[in-house]
Amino acid sequence: MVSVEEFRNAQPRSQGPATVLAIGTATPSNCVYQSDYPDYYFRVTKSEHLVKLKEKFRRMCDKSMIKKRYMHITEEILEENPNMCEYNAPSLDARQDIVVVEVPKLGKEAATKAIKEWGQPKSKITHLIFCTRSGVDMPGADYQLTKLLGLRLSVKRYMMYQQGCFAGGTVLRLAKDLAENNAGARVLVVCSEISTAVTFRGPSEAHFDTLVVQALFGDGAASVIVGADPDIPEERPLFELISASQTILPGSDGAICGHLREAGLTFQLLKDVPDLISKNVEESLSEAFAPLGIKDWNSLFWIAHPGGRAILDQVELRLGLNEEKLKATRHVLNEYGNMSSACVLFILDEMRKRSSQEGKSTTGDGLEWGVLMGFGPGLTLETVVLHSVATN
Ligand SMILES: CC(C)(COP(=O)(O)OP(=O)(O)OC[C@H]1O[C@@H](n2cnc3c(N)ncnc32)[C@H](O)[C@@H]1OP(=O)(O)O)[C@@H](O)C(=O)NCCC(=O)NCCS
Repeated sequence: MVSVEEFRNAQPRSQGPATVLAIGTATPSNCVYQSDYPDYYFRVTKSEHLVKLKEKFRRMCDKSMIKKRYMHITEEILEENPNMCEYNAPSLDARQDIVVVEVPKLGKEAATKAIKEWGQPKSKITHLIFCTRSGVDMPGADYQLTKLLGLRLSVKRYMMYQQGCFAGGTVLRLAKDLAENNAGARVLVVCSEISTAVTFRGPSEAHFDTLVVQALFGDGAASVIVGADPDIPEERPLFELISASQTILPGSDGAICGHLREAGLTFQLLKDVPDLISKNVEESLSEAFAPLGIKDWNSLFWIAHPGGRAILDQVELRLGLNEEKLKATRHVLNEYGNMSSACVLFILDEMRKRSSQEGKSTTGDGLEWGVLMGFGPGLTLETVVLHSVATN
């Protein structure tokens, strides 16, 4: 008979930390420019008569620091589903019909790119983490993606629905635990967000926060492969995941909430979100970096969820960050808008590409240590400590 101890010893943990081994991203083809969006949005929702509201919406768009976004929802789709253009009309069935099919498909596009960069056979993928805030279904998007990609039927799946914008950190935290507790594990992580199909709605003079949502969200998917003890040179690590934590911010109840209703995913977004996040960020950073003796936040490379321009501005101000620290983060906000959980993985991709193009010595802008932060409903904050690797 084998003892429990012998059995456990035969299932070793990894020696080194979990590493990101590849990154892939994808967006829908439909691109909308922020400067044109107020005209488009008020026209397709037949709300041109709400002149003051449109002016307010234009101010939000102008101040968003977003140049363009990608949206699965096109004018044709809205013409076929006029209830999606009302503020509060039953439209969940139509929305579900779209996202249940399209979320796994967009995820597949990103995952295919990550697997290609990784360069290993798909059969080596042992775990799948799928994250989206749209399209709750059974079996879920994790199952659909397993079929679409032709992964092993015994791949161990984790489906994270309806987490929101902080979840780009959550998926890395979970992938790290899986990779480090199961030697040889290769975890495929996919964040696929087609938020506009569940959040698009017409304007309401009684709900200004809805307008903020309409001004900021975009669609996109990102995928990473995570595994410990990389098989070098076949596998090429990009970042090491050193530690990961999550916390609920005190005094932030109800600051961001989403409710799935017959009218789709409705949002409550308080105006003090940027203030609540920025005044709590330093405590999480201090806890995360104390074991490393790091107190200078400008010595880190930065990946922060771009929930909105005002959040980045206030975090930058409170922490005294130099302007270039949030360059990769602001670039992704500018080019794609707020893609919820997928954003931080897009920024990770931007960070390593930019570092290599600019001839920096490490994947983290030439620096050794970095931080990835996710902010979202709760308010919830995710903090992941990253260690870069040499670029060559
Ligand atoms: C939306 C945003 C880009 C506007 O930029 P800003 O620098 O705050 O600009 P302003 O203060 O002039 O705001 C523009 C308008 O939006 C309104 N507004 C901003 N945030 C709002 C909110 N949460 N709810 C309702 N209205 C809001 C302001 O009242 C203002 O209206 P006005 O022009 O009629 O006075 C910025 O507030 C932002 O990034 N907010 C964070 C959004 C957020 O919480 N994201 C989290 C999602 S995970």
